[in-house]
Amino acid sequence: MNILILGGGGREHALAWAIRQNPKCDRLIVAPGNAGIVNVAECADLNILSRAEVLEFAQENAIDFVVIGPEAPLAAGVSDALRDAGFLVFGPSQAAAQLEASKAFTKEICDACGAPTAAWARFTDAASARDYVSAQGAPIVVKADGLAAGKGVTVAETVDQAHVAIDAIFDGEFGEMSVVIEEFMAGEEASFFILCDGTDCLSIGTAQDHKRVGDGDTGPNTGGMGAYSPAPILTPALQDQVMAQIVRPTVAEMAARGMPFQGVLYAGLMIQDGRARLVEYNVRFGDPECQVLMMRLGGQVLDLLLACAEGRLAGTSVNWADDHALTVVMAARGYPGAYRKGSIIKGLDTLSETSFAMTFHAGTTAKDGHIIATGGRVLACTGRGATLAEAHARAYAQVDALDWPEGFCRRDIGWRAL
Ligand code: AMP
Ligand code: GLY
Repeated sequence: MNILILGGGGREHALAWAIRQNPKCDRLIVAPGNAGIVNVAECADLNILSRAEVLEFAQENAIDFVVIGPEAPLAAGVSDALRDAGFLVFGPSQAAAQLEASKAFTKEICDACGAPTAAWARFTDAASARDYVSAQGAPIVVKADGLAAGKGVTVAETVDQAHVAIDAIFDGEFGEMSVVIEEFMAGEEASFFILCDGTDCLSIGTAQDHKRVGDGDTGPNTGGMGAYSPAPILTPALQDQVMAQIVRPTVAEMAARGMPFQGVLYAGLMIQDGRARLVEYNVRFGDPECQVLMMRLGGQVLDLLLACAEGRLAGTSVNWADDHALTVVMAARGYPGAYRKGSIIKGLDTLSETSFAMTFHAGTTAKDGHIIATGGRVLACTGRGATLAEAHARAYAQVDALDWPEGFCRRDIGWRAL
């Protein structure tokens, strides 16, 4: 098969690494890719937000299967353009991608199907939103209603903070015109990944990530500084509750509305007193959660993604190993604020890449014989083992073998579970 993966981060490196291991994969192209992905696939320079460009590329290269990594091409309808032209695609339609692109849409779906989530209200002007927050009190959560790269959410500890967040949204910081205000949910967060083919669902793993930039969960939020899988808090009983009360009702509701969900549903959950509620959905793999999932699933991932895209999940199962994976993100100093691009990363060639240790690239470029950092999150050092402690040791051994003074990482990834 000729396979095209859209994206160029650590998530796509992990997807490409796993898919490459499957004998069904003949030719693998990743667009745009990065300096790590070139070791497992061809990279192609392509505007992945352009339906026309992606379609033309898929036609010219006789692509049999397209896997869409990030949310932006999904929200732009790239999957629809490909499917309309007869391509087999992994990833939801533009309509179904609203589960990530619109907070209000997801809340309406939850209400319609009875999925447990935080109480909410939506406002299209600042004054009503401010009044509502004053009446509700704090803590309270303020969300811009759209894709904001994880930056549109404020968990406000005071009413004043919530008012500031509301004003920022209506001042156009995110180009948004509406705001969703939510009840604050206390508890522990975990992520659950489920393949859905429009009708049937198949769990492919749990993970926990670390959103704050600093050790001890301090400092500003990021796209994720590390993750591990499985998430011990998501017990089999809790997974059953989430499938029965949240995931299956959502998938049925989407189908009933004529927008069946096909792809991976990433359910962000809040767990308290043995009960899970939905925080949010994403309609793609998490980054860096994908790195730990791929490390555990390996080459079978291609068969699972194909079964999903072809509507065959009912007859499909996952081959689980009793293992653990953990990934540590190395970021450029300054991230998630301003950071410098172009520093040289040394030591990558000393690392051996195996099914137990992989350094996935997120923001790298090859230049003049060096690998240079060109993103905020730059590498995901990932280990697998029979225990989480083993996976942890293998991930940090990669970190410690690198010579990159301009980079940093958290030293406490996995602390809750270790
Ligand atoms: P979201 O983009 O909706 O996932 O929000 C980002 C983060 O904000 C989540 O991972 C949570 O840590 C936090 N958050 C969002 N909504 C709530 C809520 N209703 N209660 C508590 N924390 C929340
Ligand atoms: N790591 C969080 C995300 O991918 O949204």
